[in-house]
Amino acid sequence: MDMNSAIKENISFDVIAPNYDKTRHRDEAITKKMAHQALASLNITNPEDICCLEGGVGSGTILLPFIEAGVNATGVDISKEMLREFEIKLKKRGIPYRYHSTLTAHKGLSESIKVQLIHGSILDMQLEEKAFDLIISALIFHLIKDWKRLIEIYSHLLKQDGFLLIIDEESDFLNIQSGVECKNIRRDSDLRRFMEIYDNIRIDHGFPAIKESIPGTFSKKALRNEIARHGLKQVRQLDNLSWHYNVNCKDIIYNLKKRATSALQVIPQNTQMRLVEITLEEALQKGIDIDKQYQITHSFRVSVISL
Ligand SMILES: C[S@@+](CC[C@H](N)C(=O)[O-])C[C@H]1O[C@@H](n2cnc3c(N)ncnc32)[C@H](O)[C@@H]1O
Repeated sequence: MDMNSAIKENISFDVIAPNYDKTRHRDEAITKKMAHQALASLNITNPEDICCLEGGVGSGTILLPFIEAGVNATGVDISKEMLREFEIKLKKRGIPYRYHSTLTAHKGLSESIKVQLIHGSILDMQLEEKAFDLIISALIFHLIKDWKRLIEIYSHLLKQDGFLLIIDEESDFLNIQSGVECKNIRRDSDLRRFMEIYDNIRIDHGFPAIKESIPGTFSKKALRNEIARHGLKQVRQLDNLSWHYNVNCKDIIYNLKKRATSALQVIPQNTQMRLVEITLEEALQKGIDIDKQYQITHSFRVSVISL
């Protein structure tokens, strides 16, 4: 079994659930703006009339503003703990919802309950065909080995005139931590040097660099081809929405300790704590300033796909 398959089979967001939102640095106002922008761009003037599904809904940061705008929503996730985080938010806002712990428990929504959470894999879901006007896919394709099946499932679930929103995130902070290309933070910055030290120590301890072990075997081109194969087409891309925040090496340390990147979860927790300790010692010896702040630009990119 290759590393990607191993990771994809072992990954559980249960580990990161209570800290997921903290490690993502999302801006709530921007997420809300994105939901409103998406609904306006799709000419959805009465959100109360539409049914929306998010597969891999997680702690609900993306789906929540759509719910607050009035849509009938179904959120599916394989991680109980991520759904628990979502439930906390719904309760706090006084939004009634139903929780289904089995895949067949889905009974539909009612006038009074417009939100349902389903615990299970989106790949095994028994949802009614052509039931959704809007399907949201945010940061899930790269986690699913059989991502092509996910597109097939979505094309079955989508109504004839429905839309699929594929939401990606771009941020140099996330890139640094995944070892992927980082445009705006210099190579010799303390942030990138810190991450390089960590990656080298990780390799020395028998684990591949994060970049090599990160899930996500599919490319954007492969995704586009697969979408086309199912008769779906990209209609447009919404205007990018960006925001800024500051981070330092301490934020990286937090994320490493909480194993916020999927690829970190193959390392046993005790080992990971030790790797972070050694990284910190070496970084301090090399004069890295762990308090130095760097400004990060973070953005959402939303592609609108239709049948
Ligand atoms: C990176 S998180 C994104 C969560 C959410 N979409 C967001 O953008 O905040 C990925 C989520 O997909 C979930 N997930 C992974 N594989 C899944 C599957 N086969 N079925 C349902 N959920 C899945 C994980 O548990 C996790 O909550």
